[in-house]
Amino acid sequence: MAKRLVEPNTTLYPVPVVLITAGIATPNVMTCNRIASCSAEPPRLAISVRPLRYSHALIKQAREFVVNIPSPAQKILSDYVGVVTGEKENKIATAKLKLAPAQCIRTPLLADCPVNIECVVEHEIELDSHTMFIGLVKAVHVEEALLDENGDVDFARAAGIVYESGVVRERPTYNFKVNDLRRAFELPSEV
Ligand SMILES: Cc1cc2nc3c(=O)[nH]c(=O)nc-3n(C[C@H](O)[C@H](O)[C@H](O)COP(=O)(O)O)c2cc1C
Repeated sequence: MAKRLVEPNTTLYPVPVVLITAGIATPNVMTCNRIASCSAEPPRLAISVRPLRYSHALIKQAREFVVNIPSPAQKILSDYVGVVTGEKENKIATAKLKLAPAQCIRTPLLADCPVNIECVVEHEIELDSHTMFIGLVKAVHVEEALLDENGDVDFARAAGIVYESGVVRERPTYNFKVNDLRRAFELPSEV
């Protein structure tokens, strides 16, 4: 099998895409694919967020976030909240997202996502382009239809959105046509 060396990058696939809610008084949502399970007992998840994201300050301030796993039907939503910033637009209002209170933290969940994982930030690691927030999992909400007879998530039934690109890039050009996304939400096009 012939191979070629390519530029160093974070190639991994498949890559899950999740929606992070952050912020208590005025919650916001952003798309995130830099997410990993990083310990089991107790369970922890790590997300990496660029410091310039509006969500970054919200997570830093509240020291908590929610990982919401979208369904495949929420693909356009996931693109939309991944290209528009909450600094300029209330994405939750625009996309008519329903929020639900969390069990253990103050940051709300996205009610229409089938799985929601409440996390409290335990560690922050500055990694040049990104800050890695390591969150202790405090509660996991799962739509009943996704649970098997043992009460575990049946991953076949719970398939989230898997990134379409083999190479992990935040913005593959074919995937992000901002005006298409804005049309889907019946918003005026960007100039
Ligand atoms: C599929 C996808 C994955 C993304 N993954 C990340 C990520 O892991 N970390 C990050 O900082 N931004 C990521 N982004 C970009 C943010 O979601 C995007 O900049 C968003 O507009 C930030 O929103 P905010 O400014 O309201 O926080 C991703 C975007 C998309 C579409």
